[in-house]
Amino acid sequence: MNNAEIISVKNLTKKFPMGLGEFTALNGINLTFFKGEFAGVVGPSGSGKTTLLNIIGLLDNPSDGDATVLGNSSKDLSVRQAALIRRKHMGFIFQTYNLLPVYTVFENAEFPLLLLKMSTGERKKAVLDALEWVGLSDKVRSKPAQLSGGECQRVAIARAMVKRPEIVLADEPTANLDADNSHHILQTMEKLNKELKTTFIFATHDDKVISHLKRKITLIDGKVSRDENIKQ
Ligand SMILES: Nc1ncnc2c1ncn2[C@@H]1O[C@H](COP(=O)(O)OP(=O)(O)OP(=O)(O)O)[C@@H](O)[C@H]1O
Ligand SMILES: [Mg+2]
Repeated sequence: MNNAEIISVKNLTKKFPMGLGEFTALNGINLTFFKGEFAGVVGPSGSGKTTLLNIIGLLDNPSDGDATVLGNSSKDLSVRQAALIRRKHMGFIFQTYNLLPVYTVFENAEFPLLLLKMSTGERKKAVLDALEWVGLSDKVRSKPAQLSGGECQRVAIARAMVKRPEIVLADEPTANLDADNSHHILQTMEKLNKELKTTFIFATHDDKVISHLKRKITLIDGKVSRDENIKQ
């Protein structure tokens, strides 16, 4: 593995059962991501963006081909090993937030840290920092049902970044945010990207996100149709 190579997929194909047959969501994808990238996968609805993020996040398996994440081939990983890699090295922002409704904002953002060895004090500081990044310091005790859609999305963003992971996979992270919040969150992400070399991979339709990308990969019908480096 090249030192800087963090994720690669080779001849990646993903098929889902559909009726009596199957549907090919990803069709022979080859891509390599390097440490410190600020990259986005764009393309029409249904083109396979979420499916690709789920596979490189080790949440789903290829039907054919391979995904290698931090030197580990998805073929060799048990469910438990994949979970360990996610827990240690990755943060996820899901298109559907996936917040835990019975927990407060603070507890939702704290969740990824509970499995890591940290003192209560360190954990509290990390959570409050992450909630400050997303502008929710005044809502720490609220529960998801008491928040707006955009606020829920910001809790999900704080949760993904709270442990300062090596890789953040962000599926439409700004879909419910106004321009000011999107801008502020993208700036925070860029800061982490610069200072900690955090690798960000987005799936997005949002021009505000796209304008910040350094690399734009376009998927059409489960294939890479363009892969461009963008000069900022
Ligand atoms: N679990 C599944 N079972 C069957 N088909 C699926 C499944 N997940 C995704 N698909 C299909 O695979 C295709 C790609 O879906 P995916 O969610 O990756 O698209 P997307 O590019 O993220 O779209 P969007 O922009 O709407 O989020 C779609 O046609 C979808 O219906
Ligand atoms: Mg999607």
